[in-house]
Amino acid sequence: MCGIVGFVGKRQAAPILLDGLSKLEYRGYDSAGLAIRNGDEPAEVVKSKGRLKVLSEKTDNGNALIGNCGIGHTRWATHGEPSRTNAHPHVSGNCTGTGSGEVESEVVGVHNGIIENFKELKEKLMKHGYLFYSQTDTEVVIKLVDYYYKKYTHSPQEAIAKTMVRVRGSYALCLMFKSHPGEIWVARKDSPMIIGISDGETYVASDVPAILKYTRNVYYIGNLEMAKLTPGEVTFYNLDGDVIEKELTEIKWDAESAEKGGYEHFMMKEIHEQPKAITDTLNSLIKDEKIDIDSIGLSNDEVRNISQIYIVACGSAYHTGVVTQYVMEDIAKIPVRVELASEFRYRKLLLDKNGLVIIVSQSGETADSLAALRLAKDKGIKTLAIVNVVGSSIAREADNVLYTLAGPEIAVATTKAYSAQLIAGYLLAIQFAYIKNEIAEEYYKNLIKELYTLPQKIEKVLEDKERIQWFVAKQANAQDVFYIGRGIDYAVCLEGSLKMKEISYVHSEAYAAGELKHGTISLIEDGTLVIGVLTQSELYEKTVSNMVECKSRGAYLMGLTSYGHYEIEDTADFTVYIPKTDEHFTASLAVIPLQLMGYYLSVSRGLDVDKPRNLAKSVTVE
Ligand code: AGP
Repeated sequence: MCGIVGFVGKRQAAPILLDGLSKLEYRGYDSAGLAIRNGDEPAEVVKSKGRLKVLSEKTDNGNALIGNCGIGHTRWATHGEPSRTNAHPHVSGNCTGTGSGEVESEVVGVHNGIIENFKELKEKLMKHGYLFYSQTDTEVVIKLVDYYYKKYTHSPQEAIAKTMVRVRGSYALCLMFKSHPGEIWVARKDSPMIIGISDGETYVASDVPAILKYTRNVYYIGNLEMAKLTPGEVTFYNLDGDVIEKELTEIKWDAESAEKGGYEHFMMKEIHEQPKAITDTLNSLIKDEKIDIDSIGLSNDEVRNISQIYIVACGSAYHTGVVTQYVMEDIAKIPVRVELASEFRYRKLLLDKNGLVIIVSQSGETADSLAALRLAKDKGIKTLAIVNVVGSSIAREADNVLYTLAGPEIAVATTKAYSAQLIAGYLLAIQFAYIKNEIAEEYYKNLIKELYTLPQKIEKVLEDKERIQWFVAKQANAQDVFYIGRGIDYAVCLEGSLKMKEISYVHSEAYAAGELKHGTISLIEDGTLVIGVLTQSELYEKTVSNMVECKSRGAYLMGLTSYGHYEIEDTADFTVYIPKTDEHFTASLAVIPLQLMGYYLSVSRGLDVDKPRNLAKSVTVE
């Protein structure tokens, strides 16, 4: 998972590329580099280890690099440790790869993805006299392009095509050829790439935020396609070298969506965007007070024939699947299994032929989820993707797609996309139930009405954020935090615990409340924070008694429940209330205080909330 950018046009390229990379740092940020061409001059390559600002300082914010054609990269190491040598761009010449000697190279390039057969290709190239300066798979693919370029007709298109046929793995490649000034060549398989165009200028990037400041008019490049970018023009080719015509698409996201919008961190901005993400997602599927799922391509008969649903995802997306399981089984009476994509793809699967596999993914690029999707399709099972990024790999490869409209989510820790995924799950459950005549018309309409109250109920929870911030400050030295709940409340605990761990680095565990006494309760000590989630009335008393078990062992209790359950204050040391709603939907409200707790604890510990250590926004490698 890395970020790539490219620009060719009338203006100086380097400042534009650095600006674009700054919008992609969430895709990886352990090293970065630029390659800039000035007319017919060979590319000048500058690379640095560390955050993008190191490269910016090194190049005087790009002003030290002259030229109107260039490519750039921000890296998340997969092959070879983070270093200047392993940083992109990589070159085809035999040099040190640290910015000296690259001028002799015919090919210079940046890459996002994984070349699975890079070792065998490296051996082949070494037999042909190539030397390697880095440990990366990218240097191999760049040199392979060079090999084919020199071996055949010195055509970039042909050299890239031959490389694409030879290579196994995933890539979004941007290349420049010394003998072809003023051109950027791109090629894609499985990794994300978007191409933007405005008058006399052309952009390429891994994701929309990098180019949104400059243009909304974009092309989506397909798998195993390539393109030649020149100022204001793009020519697409297939593997056979045939020109492909493409439709221009207008991006609806406004520029500030990809900025912080006045908040200190993207995460807090996105927490506050959840009401809008929910409203937009609801509006995309509800017409005249009815849910319209025609756009996702499942007929009523197909819905009635669904024998089993498999929800497959990773991380927070998986947690939304656990919520959807409870709601779908209760309302639509369809059996649901929720599976971690990384397990699903290697399990000896026994999938029901009338099953439906639902892949949930914000980025639409998560490697394990994409692999699970392909596996389900190979087995002939109908697939539906719930995805937030239009044109992403999972969106394009699934049989049917339900887009969440959370807009670009920049913080590594998901919030608004998670909430939008919950809405997608609710809508599917309600509509499937309605199609199967499992619910009466009145209840159907009431459920839809209740969904539309969630945004303002979230606003109400957010009004309580200073109180939550105060409580978190008292917990700043927490070592272990336990989240306990039953049913949907347990699903909420899973997400609350992940938020705590991934951004504040405090260890926590989510536990089915009834399971705690089977061992883990031995970890409860004096002052251990135990958060009891209590939104399911039928399970309320049972979870309270589990909380009391913890209290008797010294735990400090926080209760998270709906307004009206004031008796909880006899048990809990601190309580957060959420507005009442249909109990199928309480996860959408209960998760908000837990997101805020993770956020405030991270901020109080002076951590990088938006870019936590060891994490990337989209895990596009296994
Ligand atoms: C959530 O805060 C994490 N960033 C992570 O668990 C994420 O949900 C997971 O990697 C799945 O990503 P996806 O939704 O893009 O597939």
